[in-house]
Amino acid sequence: METVFITGGAGFIGSNLLLYLVPRHPDTCFVNLDKLTYAANLGYLEAIAHAPNYRFEQVDICDLEALRRLFGQYQPQGVIHLAAESHVDRSIESPFAFVETNVMGTLNLLQCAKEAWNGATDGHRFYHISTDEVYGALSLDGTPFRETDRYDPHSPYSASKASSDHFVHAYSDTYGLPVVISHCSNNYGPRQYGEKLIPLVIDRIVHSQPIPVYGTGENIRDWLFVEDHVRAIEAIYLRGKDREVYNIGGEHETTNIALVKRLVGLVDERLGRAEGTSLSLIQFVADRLGHDFRYAIDATKLRTSLGWTPLTSFDEGLRLTVDWYLELSTKK
Ligand SMILES: NC(=O)c1ccc[n+]([C@@H]2O[C@H](COP(=O)([O-])OP(=O)(O)OC[C@H]3O[C@@H](n4cnc5c(N)ncnc54)[C@H](O)[C@@H]3O)[C@@H](O)[C@H]2O)c1
Repeated sequence: METVFITGGAGFIGSNLLLYLVPRHPDTCFVNLDKLTYAANLGYLEAIAHAPNYRFEQVDICDLEALRRLFGQYQPQGVIHLAAESHVDRSIESPFAFVETNVMGTLNLLQCAKEAWNGATDGHRFYHISTDEVYGALSLDGTPFRETDRYDPHSPYSASKASSDHFVHAYSDTYGLPVVISHCSNNYGPRQYGEKLIPLVIDRIVHSQPIPVYGTGENIRDWLFVEDHVRAIEAIYLRGKDREVYNIGGEHETTNIALVKRLVGLVDERLGRAEGTSLSLIQFVADRLGHDFRYAIDATKLRTSLGWTPLTSFDEGLRLTVDWYLELSTKK
């Protein structure tokens, strides 16, 4: 049985990825390596917790010796690396944890894979999950990010992700490690930690509390439903080419304020409130330091080379997401 390490599998994207992959690939054993930080929730993985092809190991990827032991124990053929400190606001408050986990943690995993695979490339793959934020910010008329665009990270978060990307390329160029990288735009969907924009806004509307919106709310993000990202990860892991970079995006750009207003409409409707009831909760607050104006992704390469395309429209994905968080809030 082939073994694949999934790091950060108890987080937002990792848990959605495992719930998708474990039942679909019964001949692969997926080992979830996660430290279980504040952002993790093992409860989300209940449906697969006892699957014969799933294991969980609580480990900090900053602990090189612990990782070496796990590589020795499981002899994985592949790694899909998602574990990271992922919240931009936290990186502005306290950048050090981002360098430790995102840079040193990634370096530890690369080193372990290099030692364990010892020059073998066939059947091996180190897949690093990165972000569109490494490319910097776009103006309104800027061309969406392509794989060949130069790096221009602005926040401590994106700088740490950019740095980890460079180490991944360096291990490929220097030691021949079979790597692949993808850069994805903003994900949304079930199982995201409550501090991120969409779950936070839904929670505030439900509880009729102020909804903070940075600056004038005109910043633009491209949104991708998490299950579409998960399908892209599967396609790239199985069929992507070594040493290639793939951009993944929903090609659905919207301003933060338009998104918040859409959520107000959806949640108020679901709660049986009159249209526009919660609009007055919106409060514009001091802008995030160094707030990137716009991100947008050109996913042409992924679409044409691997035949991937997002299947969930923004409207459908947002409805599914709202319903999931509303159900969660009734269970609390
Ligand atoms: N969420 C997005 O919109 C988005 C977009 C593009 C790329 N990404 C990237 O995707 C990956 C996953 O993002 P997410 O939103 O699921 O993040 P998340 O914060 O929800 O989850 C991160 C997971 O990593 C684990 N983790 C953190 N530090 C660790 C450590 N030192 N050792 C082991 N485990 C550790 C946490 O416990 C958690 O389970 C990240 O690499 C992120 O940069 C996210």
